[in-house]
Amino acid sequence: MKIIIAAFLLLSCFMAKAESISSPSGNITLEFSINERGIPTYQVTYKGIPVIKPSTLGIELNEENSLMDSFRINNTSTSTFDETWEPVWGENSHIRNRYNELFVELEKPSNGRFMNLRFRVYDDGVGFRYEFPSQQYLPYFVVKKEHTQFAMTGDHTAWWIPGDYDTQEYDYTESKLSEIRSLLSGAVDGNLSQSIFSSTGVQTSLQMKTAEGLYINLHEAALVDYSCMHLVLDDKNFVFTSQLTPDAQGNMAYMQTPCRTPWRTVMVSDDARDILASNLILNLNEPCKYKDTSWIKPVKYIGVWWEMIAGGKPWAYTWDVPSVRLGETDYNKVKPNGQHPANNENVKKYIDFAAKHGFDQVLVEGWNIGWEDWFGHSKDYVFDFVTPYPDFDIKMLNEYAQSKGVKLMMHHETSASIRNYERHMEAAYQLMNDYGYNAVKSGYVGNMIPRGEHHYGQWLNNHYLYAVTEAAKHHIMVNAHEAVRPTGLCRTYPNLIGNESARGTEYEAFSGNKPFHTTVLPFTRLQGGPMDYTPGIFEMDMSKLNPNSKSHVNSTLARQLALYVTMYSPLQMAADIPENYERFMDAFQFIKDVPVDWDESKYLEAEPGRYIVAARKAKGSNNWFIGCTSGEEGHLSTLKLDFLDNDKKYIATVYEDGKDAHYRNNPQSYGIRKGIVTAKSALKMKAVAGGGYAISIIEITDKTVLRDLKNLK
Ligand code: NOJ
Ligand code: CA
Repeated sequence: MKIIIAAFLLLSCFMAKAESISSPSGNITLEFSINERGIPTYQVTYKGIPVIKPSTLGIELNEENSLMDSFRINNTSTSTFDETWEPVWGENSHIRNRYNELFVELEKPSNGRFMNLRFRVYDDGVGFRYEFPSQQYLPYFVVKKEHTQFAMTGDHTAWWIPGDYDTQEYDYTESKLSEIRSLLSGAVDGNLSQSIFSSTGVQTSLQMKTAEGLYINLHEAALVDYSCMHLVLDDKNFVFTSQLTPDAQGNMAYMQTPCRTPWRTVMVSDDARDILASNLILNLNEPCKYKDTSWIKPVKYIGVWWEMIAGGKPWAYTWDVPSVRLGETDYNKVKPNGQHPANNENVKKYIDFAAKHGFDQVLVEGWNIGWEDWFGHSKDYVFDFVTPYPDFDIKMLNEYAQSKGVKLMMHHETSASIRNYERHMEAAYQLMNDYGYNAVKSGYVGNMIPRGEHHYGQWLNNHYLYAVTEAAKHHIMVNAHEAVRPTGLCRTYPNLIGNESARGTEYEAFSGNKPFHTTVLPFTRLQGGPMDYTPGIFEMDMSKLNPNSKSHVNSTLARQLALYVTMYSPLQMAADIPENYERFMDAFQFIKDVPVDWDESKYLEAEPGRYIVAARKAKGSNNWFIGCTSGEEGHLSTLKLDFLDNDKKYIATVYEDGKDAHYRNNPQSYGIRKGIVTAKSALKMKAVAGGGYAISIIEITDKTVLRDLKNLK
């Protein structure tokens, strides 16, 4: 009898009643329970429609007694939160963080191990994470596999890139979930470091759309001291399971209690614009950790860069040295190749151009010794980040730039040699302080050293954050390329002003990006933080810069302008060479005018893979900027400007695709028109295939000169 009662009690613990919690508006509801085997389970609905079917949660350890089943609920509690915070930079000057929380405390009675689950339910989605309190029988553990399920309700349409532990530099594929397996190998193209792990593995942020018109997005927030999550699809049942990035030994994460995982996120809405406007990922991150942020400033920059990427010119100074040894190779004794763009004269030309047109900074790549053999050799001591080539006078150039109100931007290509970067980091940042640099573009091209590690493993994620927090000590802003894709950490560490971590404009010079690329990125890659997409290419025919190139930029010129608005970033590059801007000065005016920091942002129209229309109000002013990017089908809009102030008039300048424009064969056809607009105006706009438009809307003040301007339609 006693045994029966004990068994009944145990079972009733396992079958604890479901706990349910709804978002403040009531639109989203999350239900939590543990099933008859003591496995934690959750499900999510939106306006009563299932979004996530019952999905299990658990952590498998590389020892016995995993945190997978046989749990009982010790306690549950709920709370509410509502706070408005001000980011250091951003799409909006104020962000509301409002959610209802369910906290579930679990125990495995058989071995006295504890695991808690924290669920936050917002009006635009859900975040949840595993927490491991300090405990006697689990002070340390190694994660073998995280078993977080996201069970979809059907064969949704998805915009996905192949799951890879080392790179996200892929074009997106739009397909049904059931088609991923057959399309995946064709979606993979070459990269200097790549590790595909599954025929149904995809990366987050993953954007989906259901047949009923719900937009669902899966990602993670606050990836700290843990490895990056991918998703593997069971394509019979449409269930995704988390796939963490292993280390060189095959382990996923090393944990010491108390600790926690990053947040797993599910955004959902029946309006695609809500996904773009969502602040869920930022809100799930911790507030800013820095007391003084006055040194963190948005940056508009140009760079000695496109002539290498697209023009085929070298980062290297000489062809004469077969291999470089730092400290031994004497560059003063070698023959310069004469083609190296990071030289005094050329850099001065860029500084002059930046000063003339109001840019903040000039990036110079290839300024430091070591580029002769920088990849392909798994080279440990590859760069020292402090020694310039003989033709780059670091003191003179910084003084020259600063005398004109411009700064140089530092470049640290690490070649994925992490120990080497950390070995030189302090001296490298100090050198920046000495000469007046305040921003660094870093990069992690190639396979990792330590060998066998992946770009997105826990150890590397800790390195990327270390590079950011060490930079902060020197008041340096960081824009890291090839690092793990962002998860909102820029809220906590706002000197992380950019990342690449996706396929950027550079691929337009290699093999081209799909024309719909920039209608997908804001739904996916940009969810976690800004991207250094490097737009602003005016010459689409790459053979003009490099006769050996057959590449073509898959975008119209007008759309290149729009990207400064649709691809939100506090760091924006005008990536083309000055000579190409000089050919189209009237269009270049938009790049000069567009700000990099905003008080307010609105997504006027959006559909992943088709079009995005964004409107943003410049920081500290009444001026608005609008951008539209469209996919293969183009896009027609009638834009109501009812967000403008009712009592004000504005001059709008429209930069749009020419009637005969097309990204493939007529990308440089554009028109510019100007006129007066008010809150009552409605503008008829057309974007062609792979096209777009950009509009500046400047408040009319007493000082404005109004020459023959008519109302704009
Ligand atoms: C790849 C980066 O994305 C690119 O911008 C940079 O020029 C090269 N690495 C060299 O560091
Ligand atoms: Ca890159």
